[in-house]
Amino acid sequence: MFVKNAWYVAAWAHEIGPVPFARTLCGVPVVLFRDRGTGKPAALLDRCCHRGTPLRFGQVVPEGLECGYHGMVFDTAGACIRIPGQASIPPKARVQAFPVVERDELIWIWMGEPDRADPGKIVPYPFHNDHARWPHKCQVYHVKANYMLLVDNLMDLTHLAFVHKNTIGGNPKAHVEAKMTVTPTDDGLHFIRWLMDSAPPPTYAKAVPLAERIDRWMEFQYIAPGAVLQWTGGIDSGKGAVENRNQPGFSLRIFHGLTPETDTTCFYFWSAANGYRQDDPGATDALFHEIDTAFREDKAIVEAQQAMLTARGEQGLIDIVSDAARVHMRRAVKRMIAAEAASEATGA
Ligand code: FES
Ligand SMILES: [Fe+2]
Repeated sequence: MFVKNAWYVAAWAHEIGPVPFARTLCGVPVVLFRDRGTGKPAALLDRCCHRGTPLRFGQVVPEGLECGYHGMVFDTAGACIRIPGQASIPPKARVQAFPVVERDELIWIWMGEPDRADPGKIVPYPFHNDHARWPHKCQVYHVKANYMLLVDNLMDLTHLAFVHKNTIGGNPKAHVEAKMTVTPTDDGLHFIRWLMDSAPPPTYAKAVPLAERIDRWMEFQYIAPGAVLQWTGGIDSGKGAVENRNQPGFSLRIFHGLTPETDTTCFYFWSAANGYRQDDPGATDALFHEIDTAFREDKAIVEAQQAMLTARGEQGLIDIVSDAARVHMRRAVKRMIAAEAASEATGA
């Protein structure tokens, strides 16, 4: 079951162009396109109200999206505005439209009740617009796992030492000894981990000159249900990193957008921003490739995990100390789902 009344990432802005773009989101087949006149994105149910043909097989025309079967045309609000060979258009000739907003290089979609779609609730990510200070590259994976397994993965960073030992990991002891502060918020949680006096992991050492021991932080903000904002870095030990993180060293920002496709599959949108050698496009590329390698390691783990959970269920699984943030996160999502169910029941 998914939270419906929430903004999810539907696509990177650059993915939506002059041809219809289909993607199943929260179990619903959606077709995205850009209005030819305004350039604004639109999202419709990918099912023509005539014979049910997926609209993705149609084409974008000046008035909207034309079905590829018999040529009915729908505007960005889903209303049919043309039926070939027929003058009158019945009011029922329409397809469901979903609120969409293009912001910070992302296309956000609202899969719930349209009246409740408040663009003010979209997770702000201004760093995507700041190409000078945060040059970045972006990616999307199709992952064969429930999106919450990826949120779990991001909420329990003790996996770094094991899954990512050759990339962003660092030494296991430092991870276990990390000082972690978890703060629940209204819509998710915030946590910061400090790994004091630890060896810089290969990714950091490759990026900038660092001392043999650094103080590392990993700051994560989870905004339920599908956004995680990360700021990570390291500064030579003894320089007061805890008091001031805006000093020379290594730092990067990662946007994570997790959007359900089905119960056992999802889309993982992420961007990696170079906050250390901003005038060096090679450094941004190198960072992207390091993170891409690391995240493919996560993808492989959660896909294997999903396959096992599908086969054997979740019964008997236990929580350990490092699950603290994950447990808070799961509670936040449960609260949202329960609140939605309650309001639906009241409405009914
Ligand atoms: S199925 Fe779309 S116009 Fe006939
Ligand atoms: Fe990971």
